[in-house]
Amino acid sequence: MRIAVYGASGFTGALVAAEARRRGIEPVLVGRDVVRLRKTSEDIGVPDAALRIASLDEIQEMATIFTECDAVVNCAGPFTRWGEPVLRAAITAGRHYVDTSGEQHHIHRTFDEFSSAAEQSGTTAVPGATDDGVPGDLIAQLAAARVSSIREVLIADLRLPGGVSRGTARSMLAVSGSGGLEFRDGAWHPDAGGTIEPVIPPGQDQPAALRVFALPGVVTVPRHVTAGRVRGAIRAEVATLFEGLTEEMAETIPEVVPMQARQDGQWLMFARVTGVNGESVSGWVTGPDAYGLTAVIAVETARRLVEVGAPAGVLAPAQAVDPADFLRYLASAGARWQVGED
Ligand SMILES: NC(=O)c1ccc[n+]([C@@H]2O[C@H](COP(=O)([O-])OP(=O)(O)OC[C@H]3O[C@@H](n4cnc5c(N)ncnc54)[C@H](OP(=O)(O)O)[C@@H]3O)[C@@H](O)[C@H]2O)c1
Repeated sequence: MRIAVYGASGFTGALVAAEARRRGIEPVLVGRDVVRLRKTSEDIGVPDAALRIASLDEIQEMATIFTECDAVVNCAGPFTRWGEPVLRAAITAGRHYVDTSGEQHHIHRTFDEFSSAAEQSGTTAVPGATDDGVPGDLIAQLAAARVSSIREVLIADLRLPGGVSRGTARSMLAVSGSGGLEFRDGAWHPDAGGTIEPVIPPGQDQPAALRVFALPGVVTVPRHVTAGRVRGAIRAEVATLFEGLTEEMAETIPEVVPMQARQDGQWLMFARVTGVNGESVSGWVTGPDAYGLTAVIAVETARRLVEVGAPAGVLAPAQAVDPADFLRYLASAGARWQVGED
C-alpha cells in the first residue's frame, strides 16, 4: 500500500510519513520544495522514499501523482487557506483523502462543498483526522449510543496549555476572529456564546472553566448523532492564550515540538450527552503525545479507508471507522478511554 503525504516537509507531515513506514506502508512525500522533502526523507530514516513535486496551483499534476498511490494524507495547513487544492486533486484522482486539519470552518466547508463530487468519484474524504477531531467524534458517538433522545452534546478539549508547533499557531491565527459554530435545530449557526458549565476533568477534583471554541466535533458529530444542540469548548486559559496570539509571536514558535514536551503533555477529549429528561452520559479519551497520535490516527484512518472500505463521500470519523474498534487500536499509542452514566 502507498500513501501520498502532501506537506510531508512539515512537522506533522514528517510524523505521518514516518508512521506510514513504521506500519509497512510506502509513503510518497509530496510538496512544493524538493530540498525540504529530501531533508525530511533523510531525517525520518527513509532516504529511499519517493519524492514528488507539485505546488498547490498544479491540481492536475497533483492528481497524476495521487493516482500512483492508494490514499492521500494532506498535512499542509492552514487548511482554511491551502486545503482545497489537495482535496480537489484527490477527488480528481479518485483516491481516498484524509487531512490533519483542526480548523472547524475548513471541515464544515469540506462537507458542504465536496460531498457530491467525492461521492461521484468514489472517493471517501475524512477531514480533521487529528488528536482532537477523531477521539472527540468517536467518544461522543459511543456516549450518544446510550441516550435514547438527546437534548444536547457538549464536546470539550480539556487539555492544559502545552507545546504547539508553529504550523498549529499559524492555523489558529488563520481562523481567529471567525467565531465558532454550534449545531441547533437541525442546522449550523454561529455559536450564540453564553456560559458553558464548568466540567470536572476525569481524575481531577477541581472544575475546569470552559469557553466556547470552534472544535471539529461540532461539525462532525451531528452527521451521525441526532441531537437538539451540539457545542464545542476548550479550557478558558487555553482560549485566552489563543486569543493573545499575534503573527509575530507565531513566527517565533519552533517548527517542531520536542519529544520531551510531546511526552509530558496529555491530550484529553471529553463528551457529555444529555437526554431530554435530564439524564446524562459522559465519555473521555486521553493519552500522551498529541502530534504523534495525530500521525497514528491519520495513517490508520487512511489504511482503513483503503483496506476495510467506507461509503464514498465526505464522512465524519464515526461514519468512516468503527468507533470502539478504532479507540481500541489507539491503545497501542497510549490512549485510554471510558464511557459511563453521570
Ligand atoms: N489537533 C489538531 O488540530 C492538529 C494536530 C496536528 C496538526 N494539525 C495541523 O496540521 C497542519 C500542519 O501543521 P505542522 O505543525 O506540521 O505545520 P508545518 O510544520 O508548518 O508544515 C506545514 C506544511 O505545509 C506546507 N505548506 C504550507 N504552505 C504551503 C503552500 N502554500 N504550498 C504548498 N505547501 C505548503 C509546508 O511546506 P514547506 O515545507 O514547503 O513550507 C509544510 O510541508 C496545521 O494546519 C496544523 O494545525 C492539527
